[in-house]
Order: sequence, then C-alpha cells, then structure tokens
Amino acid sequence: MLLHVPQVLTPQQLQSIRKVLHDAGESVWLDGRATAGAQAVQVKANQQLEPGSVLATGLGEQISQALQAHPMFVSAALPHRMVAPLFNRYKGGGTYGNHIDGAFQRDGRVGGAGRIRSDVSTTVFLSEPGEYEGGELIVEDSYGSHEVKLQAGDAIVYPSTSLHRVEPVTGGARMAAVLWTQSLVRDDARRAMLFELDMSILTLRQQLGDTPQLVSLTGHYHNLLRMWAEL
Ligand code: NI
Repeated sequence: MLLHVPQVLTPQQLQSIRKVLHDAGESVWLDGRATAGAQAVQVKANQQLEPGSVLATGLGEQISQALQAHPMFVSAALPHRMVAPLFNRYKGGGTYGNHIDGAFQRDGRVGGAGRIRSDVSTTVFLSEPGEYEGGELIVEDSYGSHEVKLQAGDAIVYPSTSLHRVEPVTGGARMAAVLWTQSLVRDDARRAMLFELDMSILTLRQQLGDTPQLVSLTGHYHNLLRMWAEL
C-alpha cells in the first residue's frame, strides 16, 4: 500500500525544522554513500546529515513524534519500533537509482530501537515541490510505477519491499527525512486490510454512532490484529 499522509508537520514545525537546517550551514551535509549497502552505494548520489549527530537526533525526534501522533500513519504502519529518521538533500543532479531498502535498519542512539526489521518506509518531504526540478520519488509495485512529489510537511508511506528511486534533481534542492518502521503486522496486504477496515469503522461511527454492528466490527478489527500482530 502506497499512502499519502498529509500534514504530518504543522507549518510551524516545518518552518522551525527548515530554519535549523538552514542555520546549520553547508558543512553538516555529508556524502550519503556512508549509509548505503553494497548495491545501493553504486546508485546513491546525495547528501545527508551525520546519523546520530546532535542535529539529526534533535530534528529526528520531532519528526518521529509527529508521525506517532498522526492517526492515519499509526493506522497504516501499525508501528512497533521505529529508527531515528535520516535527513537527506539532493541537488546538482543528485539522485538515488533503483534499489530496495535493506531488510534491517539500525538505530544507533543510546536507548534507541537498535536493529529493526524494515517493513514500512516513510519519506517526509521538507522542501516544497516548487523549490526543485526533478526529484520525484518513483515507487514500483504490481500496479505499475508511481510518481510522488508532495507538499513540504506531507509524508508518503510504502512497503519496504518496494523497488524505488529518486529521480535526478536538476535545479534547486530537495530535502527530506526518511525512516523505517518495524510494523506489528509484517505483511503489507494484511496491513492494508486492517487500515481499510479501521478507516471504514471510523467513518461509519461518525455516521451512525456505536451501533451493535459497529461494536462487532470493531471487535473483529482487534481480533484480526491479535491474530496477526507480532511483538
Ligand atoms: Ni530507499
């Protein structure tokens, strides 16, 4: 399931994160190949903040908290454990060719998640679409190729099993935060069913109130979750 999660960051949060990044200057942006695996390193040409740095950790905390407080993200990703976000920047032809994210991701922070299985990939856009040329995130699935370029502060959520790439940025600069979630429910198809069920229950409850049928459907949602969740 490829899902657009709108307004993860409020305009104030976005503005504050962008100001911190702007004020940090150029020297904080390092070669992104440092965190790429053997296949990905061949196709990765971007810049990123040093993972675990005070800067990345402070900003990452704000993004993680905003995602965990967003009902649509929580319902879709069913997060069990999340790694600290990485911050990247593409400019001057910067690109990240086709790859699938590594099965395991590490959170090096003291008290952090440690090593997790990556089930769900999330990109939070920090630059407005008008600020750069190119830079579309392309995600491939069995329904074809999907092009994603969102408003700053919005996020895209997709299964970590997907082949994806970032097209070359030929003008301006594209900043984003990316992170991985180990879901309570490993299988994307099951997560998608639970998400649709949850959203339908929510809408029906608003329309009808808590009818006995809705109490039953809600119970089935939890019983499916109980059946499929891994802790
Ligand atoms: Ni990736």
